[in-house]
Amino acid sequence: MTRHKYAAVGTGGRIPMFIDPIADTYRQSCELVGLCDSSATRRRWHQQRLCKEYGIDPIPDYGIEDFDRMLAEGQPDTVIVCVPDSLHHEYIVRSLEFGADVICEKPLTTDADKFAVIEDAVRRTGKRVRTTFNYRWAPGATQVRKLIAEGAIGTVKHVDFEYMLNTAHGADYFRRWHSYKELSGGLFVHKCTHHFDLINWWIDAIPETVFAMGALAFYGKDNAVARGQEALTRYDRYTGVEASEGDPFRMNLEGDPTLKGLYLEAEKDSGYIRDENVFREGIDIEDSLSATIRYRSGVIASYSLNAYCPAEGFRVAITGDEGRLEYSETHAAHIITGDRDIKFEPTASRGASLKVHRLFEEPQVIPINMPEGGHGGADPLIQEQMFSENPAPESYGRNAGHQQGAASLLVGAAGNRSIATGQAIRITDLYPLSPESVQLSELI
Ligand SMILES: NC(=O)c1ccc[n+]([C@@H]2O[C@H](COP(=O)([O-])OP(=O)(O)OC[C@H]3O[C@@H](n4cnc5c(N)ncnc54)[C@H](O)[C@@H]3O)[C@@H](O)[C@H]2O)c1
Repeated sequence: MTRHKYAAVGTGGRIPMFIDPIADTYRQSCELVGLCDSSATRRRWHQQRLCKEYGIDPIPDYGIEDFDRMLAEGQPDTVIVCVPDSLHHEYIVRSLEFGADVICEKPLTTDADKFAVIEDAVRRTGKRVRTTFNYRWAPGATQVRKLIAEGAIGTVKHVDFEYMLNTAHGADYFRRWHSYKELSGGLFVHKCTHHFDLINWWIDAIPETVFAMGALAFYGKDNAVARGQEALTRYDRYTGVEASEGDPFRMNLEGDPTLKGLYLEAEKDSGYIRDENVFREGIDIEDSLSATIRYRSGVIASYSLNAYCPAEGFRVAITGDEGRLEYSETHAAHIITGDRDIKFEPTASRGASLKVHRLFEEPQVIPINMPEGGHGGADPLIQEQMFSENPAPESYGRNAGHQQGAASLLVGAAGNRSIATGQAIRITDLYPLSPESVQLSELI
């Protein structure tokens, strides 16, 4: 049997989500033909791990100067793009032009100009790009979508969504490349793309106008000094720095074998410092964000994110002309910390709550099963869609292409523009995304 061939570029922390199921669960029908990364240490760390964990032969590995050689030698059917966000478009376009389809981690890219080159390449090549919005596959999120699609609250008119990142997960965006807007698009793009996508998909609508405000209010040197915590700003990084012991934001790369192998031991060939001080100078992304969004369908949404909360989770209220749906989740942070400082997570309060309150009726509490597995059980489900020969039939529209990827990242890009200009931004002025369409499901 001919197996579907995959190559991967960007072999950092997130790549096991893709290469492990190929090497393990789906090995009968899938094959990895190449791993590419700017760091030889990081790509070989995964290469050796795959051999050891799944008993497979070593996957050929390539530096970034040999990306095209990897395509020529491996002849992949699909390329998995898992590099920092602002580089996604480069590898997407090169892969499409080679003749492969692409699976790209969220956010699809970081701004409208980069999306324009992706859309142009899709048009020219006729190849496909999947955006991996794994949150759509979480059981609570899917149930919200199902209830709204069934008309449980009538026609949606308003959404109110608040996301909280705790001081383990939230802080992690301020330790490395994510903390520079040029590389990540800021949290409005890098992180909020998940949340904007959930709203778009839940209400099946395309966003039209964004007015936003944002601030760096907690992380960064100035904020720590203003709070009287100057002592927390005295070192550039945490690992190996005695003075940082006891700092609640400390990350110790030596304290976790994955962090050590993947990042500390790769510093010499990449210069990538994984544990920079979250209270250093130069961070230019926001940690507090608010946006008002109007949709082409007329729905209005109110959104906020804070990255320095005591607990992690979100709360959404969706109001329709027949009632209101309220959903909230408290969950664990998804990072490895080296110091195991997940202790800040109040585990007892983890859980989810879903309530539908129809007009003139008593509220109804709806039970949700929260299975184990990455991202609330979402990851195995999306892996099945990506890699199985016969994936389960998908009736919720959870698979997203490049245009649905854009519908979410462009909200963040418009939010960034709004913060910079103080103006409300029309998304079509950034990129004319299928101007005649109103529903998200009309987009690829
Ligand atoms: N869906 C999710 O929940 C989720 C979670 C984490 C990360 N992500 C996404 O996955 C992607 C990767 O994130 P990560 O956490 O693995 O980051 P990471 O920093 O751990 O890994 C990025 C890798 O890219 C490599 N790289 C840097 N520049 C490169 C270049 N020019 N060419 C090739 N490789 C290069 C780095 O060496 C590193 O190995 C990002 O787009 C991120 O937004 C998604």
